[in-house]
Amino acid sequence: MQNDKHDKLTRFSITIPEELLSEFEENYYSDHKRENRSEAIRFLMRQYISGERWKSDDNKEVCATVTIIYDHHLPGLSCKLTAAQHDSGGVIICSTHVHLSHSSCLECIITKGLARDIKKFIDALKSIRGIKNLDINITAEV
Ligand code: NI
Repeated sequence: MQNDKHDKLTRFSITIPEELLSEFEENYYSDHKRENRSEAIRFLMRQYISGERWKSDDNKEVCATVTIIYDHHLPGLSCKLTAAQHDSGGVIICSTHVHLSHSSCLECIITKGLARDIKKFIDALKSIRGIKNLDINITAEV
């Protein structure tokens, strides 16, 4: 993490809808306790950059959580998800399955390994039809 005190600062202006700004400030500050707009935008920019950086460096070691929501009634879907995890090349540390409702399942898969192997696993998940939601979070750089 960079230290703002030693960075050369620059000032820029942006144009956004008034309603978006007030909605952002109303929600963001109550959640994040940032000191001011500049601090909030710096935080979001760093979060975005660290979230994207791993995508451009295949050899970087990363930890990522992958959360999926799916309907386990869809024929073959559960088997395909299991097969994708078995074929993941050992990047999966653990997974947790939650039965959300009669048909919906949520699965949180914690991975650790080279970015390229984790990307390959995520691509395998993306290729499976029937997954309703797929979220990826980079939790830490190893
Ligand atoms: Ni379930």
